[in-house]
Amino acid sequence: MSATTELPSPAASRHALPDPGEVVPAISWPIVGIFSGAIALFAFSTWAALADRLPAPLTIVLSATAIFVLFTVLHDAAHYSVSTRRWVNVAFGRVAMFFVSPLISFKSFAFIHIEHHRNTNDDANDPDHFVSGAPMWQLPLRFPLMDVPYLSFLVRNVRRRPRAEVAETVFLMVASVAVIATSAFTGHLWALAVIYLIPERVAMFVLAWWFDWLPHHDLEDTQQENRYRATRNRVGSEWFLTPLLLSQNYHLVHHLHPSIPFHRYVATWRRNEEAYLERDAAIGTVFGQQLDADEYREWKRLNGRLTPLLPVRMPKRSSARAAVFHTVPVADVDRLTDDSVLIRFDVPADLRDEFSFEPGQHVTVRTDLGGVGVRRNYSICSSATSGELAIAVKHLPGGAFSTFAMEQLRAGDTLDLMTPTGSFGTPLDPLTTKNYVAVAAGSGITPALSILRTTLAVETESRFALVYGNRDAESTMFRAELDELEARYADRLRIIHVHSRDPHHPASLRGRVDRPKLERWLDSDLPADSVDEWFLCGPVEMVTDLRDLLLARGTEPEHVHVELFHGYQLPRATDDFAPASLTIGLRGRQHDVSLAAGDTVLESALKAGLEAPYACLGGACGTCKAKVLLGSVAMEQNFALSSAAVEDGYVLTCQSHPTTDEVRLDYDA
Ligand code: FES
Repeated sequence: MSATTELPSPAASRHALPDPGEVVPAISWPIVGIFSGAIALFAFSTWAALADRLPAPLTIVLSATAIFVLFTVLHDAAHYSVSTRRWVNVAFGRVAMFFVSPLISFKSFAFIHIEHHRNTNDDANDPDHFVSGAPMWQLPLRFPLMDVPYLSFLVRNVRRRPRAEVAETVFLMVASVAVIATSAFTGHLWALAVIYLIPERVAMFVLAWWFDWLPHHDLEDTQQENRYRATRNRVGSEWFLTPLLLSQNYHLVHHLHPSIPFHRYVATWRRNEEAYLERDAAIGTVFGQQLDADEYREWKRLNGRLTPLLPVRMPKRSSARAAVFHTVPVADVDRLTDDSVLIRFDVPADLRDEFSFEPGQHVTVRTDLGGVGVRRNYSICSSATSGELAIAVKHLPGGAFSTFAMEQLRAGDTLDLMTPTGSFGTPLDPLTTKNYVAVAAGSGITPALSILRTTLAVETESRFALVYGNRDAESTMFRAELDELEARYADRLRIIHVHSRDPHHPASLRGRVDRPKLERWLDSDLPADSVDEWFLCGPVEMVTDLRDLLLARGTEPEHVHVELFHGYQLPRATDDFAPASLTIGLRGRQHDVSLAAGDTVLESALKAGLEAPYACLGGACGTCKAKVLLGSVAMEQNFALSSAAVEDGYVLTCQSHPTTDEVRLDYDA
């Protein structure tokens, strides 16, 4: 069994966007194919024009066709759909961009295009609304000038973009003007116009018409209001239109699942068709007739067949009664930044249920380093629906395990790994629509990343904002993955990077993630009453400061979830508490233990030789959680249990001192 359960619930299929059943391929061969064909076609038309083998109109048609096709490569690269490898997408995107519009860098194009996805049909914020919202009589003028609103959008948002990207775009503009001026000066302007300038405008005309106007015009909803009705599919004559439009007749599928390669749109729609219809998806026919769901079913009755719906995948907690160690092989160790690594585990099939987890949970790693037992707790960073178990380790100066992980740990080594514990995340529901915000600093990203990935996969209507603080871009863990996720979930995920030591970062996002910044966001982009759940993960000062602010602004404590990464205190030695008799339930057995004055419950359990679970010893991780069944204890500190859990009788045994002569606790409860 895997870390997921399947929920083929008809109720779920009514509301949540179904799993498209598609993954980004290691390499999309159809995209490689059209890329190679388009480059060859452009080379041929250029040669033919220079050798005077073709009349100018035919050269223009061939070159425009090549540029039109290359736009699809660029478009899929901007959504990281060409390959699972980021650099492959960037490489294809940069080359294709050069043909489509040498005025804008690939990164700038990707930024502007993601804003189109985020704000489709929003007059003020959708750069493509220049075309899709234009009056009919202006369309012939606006279609070939589609890159003008892109440039002006970039100028308006230039402060949000990295300087290197802006510099690249400026360089490309200057170089383009220089090439045109040189051609004019040397008498080659007409040749340049036939080979490139006119075909590029012709391709722009067709792209604006087919990619923007056809899917979006005359739809009143914006992406934020109703993602199923901000874009339409155009049905009928697929045998002809799908290859001609390179699948953009099913553009709605692209806006719902931006990471699917273009050649899978139609298959995705057909696989989930009834589920989309239940959400009132916007549909038009080839001839412009708009169809509601019933009209479409009727239209389709003569020539279509419905296929089964796919199930919704759900995360599942560990099946272990109480946390327990198992020896687990390391699948691979990958460098994330100069001072952090990603460790993936190869969980044996018979342990998969015990190592299934919910987003936000963590595992404790135990190993022997030079004769010294070392035990560390790390949050799981993989999605809880992926079937993968991975942690990220950031190097701490002098840190025994982090140094070992950075320098010596290799694929095939084994580690003692405790089954997942903790409750930082919130329960997910495919039928719900919520707004989540995570604020993380440094390695605090790890649980936030698992929560973010899982939530966006399970709750297909929910939105997520991540505020992530780091020194600079280079020290940002999972930087490429976050870019990719933002492109994939363009209309539902927003990431705000804050850099403390990057003089080129936008001024408003420079410094630490702190109270004044959160106050600003609460007053503008992230009003507290619009957020359902907050996740704060990082150093204790940041987390407590931000939590206090959120509570002061009226957020209920049970909606502010905290996870501490550094700064918590170990329990202090104290004489304030008397000896007591303990009865401890652990893995189905009862143990009588004497507790010496001042000891914590966990200390006495360990002194008695019990394998009681623990990790941080600072009240931060929740691994040592147990339920008090008789008597009472006092906790020194608690950063891991919610007030509801405490009311239910749960305590952190690493922080607990008995306040009655007799106490009965159960780790299995
Ligand atoms: S061991 Fe981490 S909270 Fe007790």
